[in-house]
Amino acid sequence: MQEIVTFSKEGNIGLIVVNNPPVNALSQAVRQGIKTGVEKGIADKDILAMIIICEGRTFIAGADIREFGKPMIEPFLPAIVQYIEDSPKPMIAAIHGTALGGGLEIALGCHFRIAAPTAKVGLPEVKLGILPGAGGTQRLPRLVGPQAALDMIVSGNPIAAQKAQTIGIIDEIADGDLKAAALTFAKKVISEKRPIKKISSLAAKVDNPAMFEEYAKSIARKQRGFLAPFQCIKAVQAAVELPFAEGMKREREIFVELQASPQSKAQRHVFFAEREVARIPGLPADQQTREIKSVGVLGAGTMGGGIAMCFVNAGIPVVLLEVKQEFLDKGLGIIRKNYANTVAKGSLQQDVMDKRMSLIKPTLSYDDLKNVDLVIEAVFEDMAVKKEVFAKLDAVCKPGTIFASNTSYLNIDDIAAMTKRPEDVMGMHFFSPANVMRLLENVRGAKTSPEVYATAMKVGKKINKVPVLVGVCDGFVGNRMLAKRSCECGFMLEEGALPQQIDKVIYNFGFPMGPYAMSDMAGLDIGWRNRKAKFDKLSPREKANNILDKICELGRYGQKTGAGFYKYDDKRNATPDPVIEELIIKHSREVGKTRRVITDQEIIERAIYSMINEGAKILEEGIAARPLDIDIVWIYGYGFPVYLGGPMFYADQVGLKKIYEAILKYKDIVGAQYWEPSPLLAKLAKAGKGFYSK
Ligand code: 3HC
Ligand code: NAI
Repeated sequence: MQEIVTFSKEGNIGLIVVNNPPVNALSQAVRQGIKTGVEKGIADKDILAMIIICEGRTFIAGADIREFGKPMIEPFLPAIVQYIEDSPKPMIAAIHGTALGGGLEIALGCHFRIAAPTAKVGLPEVKLGILPGAGGTQRLPRLVGPQAALDMIVSGNPIAAQKAQTIGIIDEIADGDLKAAALTFAKKVISEKRPIKKISSLAAKVDNPAMFEEYAKSIARKQRGFLAPFQCIKAVQAAVELPFAEGMKREREIFVELQASPQSKAQRHVFFAEREVARIPGLPADQQTREIKSVGVLGAGTMGGGIAMCFVNAGIPVVLLEVKQEFLDKGLGIIRKNYANTVAKGSLQQDVMDKRMSLIKPTLSYDDLKNVDLVIEAVFEDMAVKKEVFAKLDAVCKPGTIFASNTSYLNIDDIAAMTKRPEDVMGMHFFSPANVMRLLENVRGAKTSPEVYATAMKVGKKINKVPVLVGVCDGFVGNRMLAKRSCECGFMLEEGALPQQIDKVIYNFGFPMGPYAMSDMAGLDIGWRNRKAKFDKLSPREKANNILDKICELGRYGQKTGAGFYKYDDKRNATPDPVIEELIIKHSREVGKTRRVITDQEIIERAIYSMINEGAKILEEGIAARPLDIDIVWIYGYGFPVYLGGPMFYADQVGLKKIYEAILKYKDIVGAQYWEPSPLLAKLAKAGKGFYSK
């Protein structure tokens, strides 16, 4: 068996080579191996300098996250980094790929750093709900100054080698082969007798002592609810205010506290779930897929335009089809404006925008779709229109073209039945704005072939989405669960709550917006149209709960008309409106409900537990294969707080027993029709288990 870390000699230079695929994470064996390597180099009198370098696709990408939450086995990482820094012989890190977290901390323990031009370095721990725990918060500010260190540590975003060199993390960028360049660099260090640079002996200085407080304020909105970013700031502050050894102690205290926090547990869950979601149970890893070299998009409206952008952003040409030239012009105009805004902000080069626009071929003719490999339909949400376009596609497209519908609610199997090739038909449900939102619900129909949905998963990743495979049902995973929340919130309005109260509770729970602020933003007419389309299927109580109809009948469609559940000023700032309060109170009277105090806890339970119960039903029915699929849908599609891990993970943390009891309570109060417990949830709750601990 190949050793994970080897020590070898190239003349008077010691090479410590890490080879722990896939990302050279710092498992116990790697930590031990590095320590042993350094020991050997120090003990060998012929060795005058040492290089730490990695095999495979990357330099060390950090601590082994899989070891978190288990008892740590020595040697510990901070001690290894210190041991490297204390080496009397020059230590050089040779970086390719991504030196992340503990990987960069190892490099910062070294006295010099050389990197491949394509390398990136970063401290992404904050994204796992922790902070750099092996001296990163103490060494980086000493090396690059507190401001640059805060930017890296608090955002967690890696920076490119060039920038890293500019701010002082990287001493040299390798020209050509990294190992050869590192050896040349080491020889230079030896021959020039360059003094060893110990970062821990530098001082981190600030001109403005209030900078930490100001930094915390500047991220308050974006990082609302998260613990780690604010703790990162405290640790960097310690680097400025305390001697190195004491700063290290402070870092350790905060690290230990955060590592044990429910937030970090949730964020680590999300890290692995995000990766697991791509693996489809039952599909072999080498499942054949089709090549997608060109795409057709039907409809250049809100969704079609955004979908077209996703593909051309990834360099895949799009044929964009509309029914009339004016709609085509309008749709293209919006796409152009979107790109132009990004160019104006400086985030996109004009020539890149031009290239992307040139990849869109507008058309009114189905003939132009003959040879595309994938078609995504985003026409009106109307079964008759969908059926018509799918029949046309079936007649013109080459064999093997994948047909996808972006429908929000319609039945994919019924759509597939309109073609002679149902095995090639599926749903690809994007979220609005489609060029921004990362979630892609790929909906597998009863007859969709594995090759087809595996292709949709692959192409989804290629266009930078997080694809989740789900089955056919009304609303699929996300909107089906959302419908439960909307229904309960609507009932609570009748029973005594006001929109601003519900919104505040949901916002404080960690969602970016409450349901009513969100509806106002999306446009109330959309929900109203949906309600009318589904009216016959609603329960008598839902039919009578017509607050939305009443608001829309006043011409209040939300932000775009200056009023909806709230009223808006010309900067679109919302304020609660006494007109709406009156309307709701009057409505309660009309439907015979005596208004009562609805507590914040009741709002959480009814809004969130109703979704969890539906999530459990979705699992039972096999619409989602695993709880993690549901969690990813909610995190990426609806802004469920990452630090709670998604609704199913959150449910496990609350305890299914508690949730089950609440469900039974509301079954009595609200009615069995809305609160019938999922048998799966009931079974797990009674057995003292969770969705993730069956
Ligand atoms: N520990 C354990 N496993 C890891 C890992 C880590 N740090 N980083 C990645 N992996 C695993 C992934 O789970 C995945 O496993 P799978 O194939 O079984 O799903 C595999 O490695 C490949 O990962 P990706 O699919 O993400 O591969 P990419 O090439 O897309 O990305 C990467 C590579 C940029 C390195 C990305 O994996 C990444 O960002 N990793 C996390 C880096 C990180 O957060 N480091 C900090 C760790 S905490 C720390 O260091 C604490 C210290 O301060 C004390
Ligand atoms: P939209 O009304 O903005 O755009 C629809 C476009 O389709 C219009 O430009 C229309 O001219 C065009 N069109 C109509 N019939 C056509 C035909 N026969 N051939 C070609 N083009 C035709 O609608 P939107 O919002 O983009 O929705 C499209 C689909 O996406 C619907 O199925 C909707 O349910 C779904 N969806 C919408 C989301 C949203 O937030 N708007 C989110 C996710 C899915």
